[in-house]
Amino acid sequence: MTDDLAYNAGLGNAFETEALPGALPRGQNSPRKVPYGLFTEQINGTGFTVHRAENQRTWMYRLRPQILDRAYRERPVGRFVADFSEAVQSPQVLRFRPRSMPATPTDFLAGLTTWAGAGGPSFRKGAAIHLYACNADMVDTAFCNIDGDLLLVPERGRLHVRTELGRLNVGPGEIVVLPRGIRFQVLLPDGAARGYVAELFDGHFQLPERGPVGANGLADARHFLFPVADFEDDPRPWTVVVRQGGRLWEVEAPACPFDVVAWHGNYAPFKYDLDRFNSLGSVSFDHADPSILTVLTSPMDTRGRNAIDVAVFHGRWDVAEHTFRPPFFHRNSAIEFNGVVRSPSATGPWQPGAFSWTPYLAPHGVSNRTYEDVVTASNAEADAPERLPDSSLWIQFESTYLLGVMPWAFDDPDRDGAYLESFRDYRPHAKVP
Ligand code: FE2
Repeated sequence: MTDDLAYNAGLGNAFETEALPGALPRGQNSPRKVPYGLFTEQINGTGFTVHRAENQRTWMYRLRPQILDRAYRERPVGRFVADFSEAVQSPQVLRFRPRSMPATPTDFLAGLTTWAGAGGPSFRKGAAIHLYACNADMVDTAFCNIDGDLLLVPERGRLHVRTELGRLNVGPGEIVVLPRGIRFQVLLPDGAARGYVAELFDGHFQLPERGPVGANGLADARHFLFPVADFEDDPRPWTVVVRQGGRLWEVEAPACPFDVVAWHGNYAPFKYDLDRFNSLGSVSFDHADPSILTVLTSPMDTRGRNAIDVAVFHGRWDVAEHTFRPPFFHRNSAIEFNGVVRSPSATGPWQPGAFSWTPYLAPHGVSNRTYEDVVTASNAEADAPERLPDSSLWIQFESTYLLGVMPWAFDDPDRDGAYLESFRDYRPHAKVP
């Protein structure tokens, strides 16, 4: 998307940025006299003593400190939750039509609905998947999620995300990561917005190892864009909403929290254009595992178990000989949440906004019709290179956690009952004596 904001680039970099010349202290982090008389505030995104390569923290230089003399009030959470004791563990594969847009003014925060989850923020283990659908700006309100890092995948409508560390424009085809504790506000330049959200209760999103792929390919660190310092001196009352342990608390702040004049560090929000992803795949035979399409991951350990993997399926050449090209029938030791962002078809079961759910180790694969088309094609047709269109873009969240689906999903009027019909009546091809 066109974006006239300035950014710094490079996932894993340490950034320096200042909106006023000389605002960033040089030579030390916390001088007694800060340029322009700014307040100094550090935010840590990791424990102090974690390995240096994993340590994340940012120093902010701002008009006012964020400590407040006001009392917090609790507010209703609706269906945006972090308690999964009611979540349903079920082997049922599911598909949903695009989520209905709200009929009344609804901002991003009010438009969040939790879809699935496991674990929770208290012990810093687990992950969640949410959906959002909204049609109103957050007005003089900032949101601070203590519980987890949020990864937003817009499917419809652009988001103008204002954060303490600067602004990001994010549209369909892009993703944005908002680390826990960083205050942000979502404005809607297109008036309506919808998308998918992954939440990590532990650790942070990072690039996957490339292994034998080598030094290049997949997502490149330089294509991840970070905001530059951008502040406003707005001494009007603002509301700060804090989510902690799944509860929502709000407090009146005497001024806009987006007042950071300069910052340096590596703990910050960032965005990525999924069309920058350099897809790799088969050039000989057989269908590669979807891990080859991982954009970002969040390892739980060193044994290939990840809290959330984010994979992208977009336009690319599909090349393989004497091979069943679509995904083979399989059962995966992870849950799979597939969301359509772009589609050549504005209608039909896989239109933008439609999404599907495959539980842990649940058998899944292509429909009876696709199977029939593939196995009855001529060798010439089946072996011809195929260009998957750029008008198609899907994301997949995979998790090793047994995410349970929230109970309201099963009664959702947008649950697509026709999904199961596509797996009915596979014509037997086997000829056995
Ligand atoms: Fe799968």
